[in-house]
Amino acid sequence: MLKGRDIVSISDLSIEEIERIFEVARKMVPVARGEMKNENLRGHILANLFFEPSTRTRLSFETAMLRLGGSILDFSNPSATSIAKGETLADTVRMVDSYSDVIVIRHPYEGAARLAAEFAENPVINAGDGAGQHPTQTLLDMFTMVEEVGRINGLNIALIGDLKYGRTAHSLAIALDRMGAKIHLVSPPTLTMPTHILRRMNQKPAVHEKLEDIVDLADVFYVTRIQKERFPDPTEYIRVAGSYKITGKVVEKMKDSAIIMHPLPRVDEISPEVDNMPQARYFKQAFYGIPIRMALLSLVLGVE
Ligand code: NCD
Repeated sequence: MLKGRDIVSISDLSIEEIERIFEVARKMVPVARGEMKNENLRGHILANLFFEPSTRTRLSFETAMLRLGGSILDFSNPSATSIAKGETLADTVRMVDSYSDVIVIRHPYEGAARLAAEFAENPVINAGDGAGQHPTQTLLDMFTMVEEVGRINGLNIALIGDLKYGRTAHSLAIALDRMGAKIHLVSPPTLTMPTHILRRMNQKPAVHEKLEDIVDLADVFYVTRIQKERFPDPTEYIRVAGSYKITGKVVEKMKDSAIIMHPLPRVDEISPEVDNMPQARYFKQAFYGIPIRMALLSLVLGVE
């Protein structure tokens, strides 16, 4: 049902399609761990077009493709390509489309992935477009909640940090709302969730300025980095940097069953002492990116 589809916004997927991706991802977990062989993407080529820094997203798409027997064209240094000579995004995409079977793109401008999808015949997957969306991160975030907590519906989920520029929080808020979660937004007053995202949600989220307000209530703490690179004014960044910090003391106030997530990279939002506490799930969450991307690639390439 997803064959040939572009995944640009999380709203491109229905709840049934998201559940289908999770079902395939669950079967991919042993393959992602290297315990089982599955070469269903042999002969397929993925083009990774990264115009912005990335560690997890780029590497997990690569690992997903390699584990399933596929190959990769890597483009992570635009200055080494014809972009540096002034080639347009549309021309680059049209060309790469004819060299590969699926394109994964990350770009600093909101809307770049939608533009790429218009010019490519093969599926285009948005791996982050500026302060826009990051739908595959949302899939792995929700998969983490389902696998680690057991459900999404009815959970109290706190989205914490930079809700203005954080694209992971944008896609996730829209999707969690559709899945029936109770959303709590915790951010400095200057970094609140944009109204264009709030307008796409059916239920009004609760808004808090302080983490203490929900520390003993939330089932999931989704912590995000302040997106320094998107601030037009560096002094504004300095004012909000370090606004929220999850320390061991904060975790002690949480429910035992609560989980702490972060799309990573973290800067100083979560102290290293939290890493070994039972609530910490961010590294496991990063692992889930592999089975989720394996599932998504298999489905859009029509081999699952
Ligand atoms: C996020 C991103 O690029 O939006 N990282 C990721 O993909 N895991 C979050 C961030 O950069 O803060």
